[in-house]
Amino acid sequence: MNPLKDKIQAYIEDIQATSIEKFQDRAAEVEMFRVKYLGKKGIISDLFEQFKAVPNDEKKDLGKALNMLKVAAMDKIEEFKSFVEEHEAEEQAHDLTMPTDFAQLGSRHVLSVVLNEITDIFSRIGFTVAESVEIEDDWHLFSALNFPPDHPARDMQDTFFVEKEEGKQEVALRTHTSSVQVRVMEKTKPPIRIIAPGRVFRNEAISARAHCIFHQVEALYVDKNVSFADLKQTLLYFAKEMFGEQTQIRLRPSYFPFTEPSAEMDISCSVCGGKGCNICKGTGWLEILGCGMVDPNVLQACGIDPKEYTGFALGMGVERMAMLKYQIRDLRLYFENDLRFLKQFEAIV
Ligand code: DAH
Repeated sequence: MNPLKDKIQAYIEDIQATSIEKFQDRAAEVEMFRVKYLGKKGIISDLFEQFKAVPNDEKKDLGKALNMLKVAAMDKIEEFKSFVEEHEAEEQAHDLTMPTDFAQLGSRHVLSVVLNEITDIFSRIGFTVAESVEIEDDWHLFSALNFPPDHPARDMQDTFFVEKEEGKQEVALRTHTSSVQVRVMEKTKPPIRIIAPGRVFRNEAISARAHCIFHQVEALYVDKNVSFADLKQTLLYFAKEMFGEQTQIRLRPSYFPFTEPSAEMDISCSVCGGKGCNICKGTGWLEILGCGMVDPNVLQACGIDPKEYTGFALGMGVERMAMLKYQIRDLRLYFENDLRFLKQFEAIV
């Protein structure tokens, strides 16, 4: 048998054993392979040269082998090509140098926006922010604030108690931020001028108009000669800053255990300007907050001499402020984190 035949067979095996996956530089090595076998001076053309000198009776057999070699080389190149095409598409799909689809920036929650605004308004007239615990004892929540022992707020139906055992200090989630008043007065000598923003908790069924978690801002001013006129002027300033220069206020007598006298403040309806609409239920007024002169019993309980000092306090709900300012109709929207709701406040910072 012609020795060329063995050689051809060895080449075929070499071709079949060649795998593009082992190539380091795919394009260059594919080209090298092509030149090696199918180039003008490559193995196959060289073999065809030699083939000319093969004796005629061996030509048929050897020619067949030579053709098989050529087909094997060409098939291999086809295989390389489709491999490259397939992988290029895949590699492009994972091109790490491509610009990314930028993650969308979030925006401030409407409650934070309103809270910041309230804080800002009070800070312009010298109030600083005081913060305190959300889990409070009975003293700071009720007793020091002059709540009588049988006040309904001490009832399980209104308050989430953490600990309520006979003879033990009662501990609860704070039902109002008025507790911060007590905390501050206990450890600060007047003059005191603080606002206390924060979360509060009440045992309420969740609906469009009530929630078990909400936010309040408490304000407290204690000094010598603080009068109801100071309170009224502060309220008017706040209402105008918050709801616009044209806003009017009115005070209605009310009752809170920790203030005497106590009042509730209404503002002229910010939607209809006082003419009457469905937001103000036709009255022209919107109820905004509770306030009053700090009860002397409260000052006394916190170690401040009520003969020397007087003070005023006020408390408001942040959700309610935001509802009135942006005409939000359902309290639950604040806590559902529905982007369609949140995105409406993107432009306000
Ligand atoms: N703590 C009251 C509440 O949760 C709000 C309040 C009313 C606070 C009158 C005050 C105030 O400081 O003077 O409903």
